[in-house]
Amino acid sequence: MASSPDANEIESRARAHIAAARRIVVLTGAGVSAESGVPTFRGPGGLWRSRRPEELATPEAFARDPRLVWEWYAWRRSVVAGCAPNAAHLALARLALARRPHTSTLLVTQNVDGLHHCAADLAARDADPAPAYPLEVHGAIHRDRCSRCARRTQGLSAIDTTSEDRLPRCESCGGLLRPDVVWFGESLDADILEEAFDAASRADVCLVVGTSAVVYPAAAIPEATLARGGAVIEVNPDVTPLTPRATLSLRGTAVETVPALLG
Ligand code: OAD
Repeated sequence: MASSPDANEIESRARAHIAAARRIVVLTGAGVSAESGVPTFRGPGGLWRSRRPEELATPEAFARDPRLVWEWYAWRRSVVAGCAPNAAHLALARLALARRPHTSTLLVTQNVDGLHHCAADLAARDADPAPAYPLEVHGAIHRDRCSRCARRTQGLSAIDTTSEDRLPRCESCGGLLRPDVVWFGESLDADILEEAFDAASRADVCLVVGTSAVVYPAAAIPEATLARGGAVIEVNPDVTPLTPRATLSLRGTAVETVPALLG
């Protein structure tokens, strides 16, 4: 009876898939930033373990109590501001920059922390003039958007959350600003989503790092690669709903696994 492949064998199969791939899509979630110090949502110490999304991350919550919602996002901004990209972000940024003839890599992230963006800048500094920025399907915490006219601006570094009157307002129309992130019950940007699914449906490999794979539509991106006969390679210390569907599953953290896999 054949024994199940060990971790080294799985890693070498994953490397072979990546080496042979002409088109790669990478989908990341909160786990890729965990070793940078950004809390995940559903794991131990995760944000949704102690708070309910309906109280903080829905349009209804913002309409009901914008001060409370801003207080939480201002805290998250301050956490993220103290974090730097880790070795997994950097390895993925270098992969996205590698412009081998006839190959392409698209990085798609559910994270709003901007760390893939920072890593893209860092990687481009020593390699290539044009950074390869990720598609941020759930928005970016460091940007603001007007809740009335939808104008986007660079997020303010200090938000006064002492009263509703002091919350930031749009310079154009006076509407309340909100973080430029996708909340539960809101639609994702259709163009960004189309680009992600289009790339996944043409990819030879979809590398999925650090996501619980439970939030749709992002969780369906690897399915688009499977549907066209491509391979899905999952990197996660834990089993997820994607695991039974994945071609290969590498059990380890992002920093332990991704740089070695792509090195
Ligand atoms: P979750 O918190 O749901 O899942 C994080 C995943 O990362 C889990 O599967 C962990 O096992 C894994 N993980 C933990 N530490 C890791 C590490 N060091 N290296 C690799 N993996 C690790 O986060 P997401 O899947 O990103 O949506 O959550 C998806 C969406 O739900 C988020 O984008 C957010 C949230 O509500 C919005 O805000 C719209």
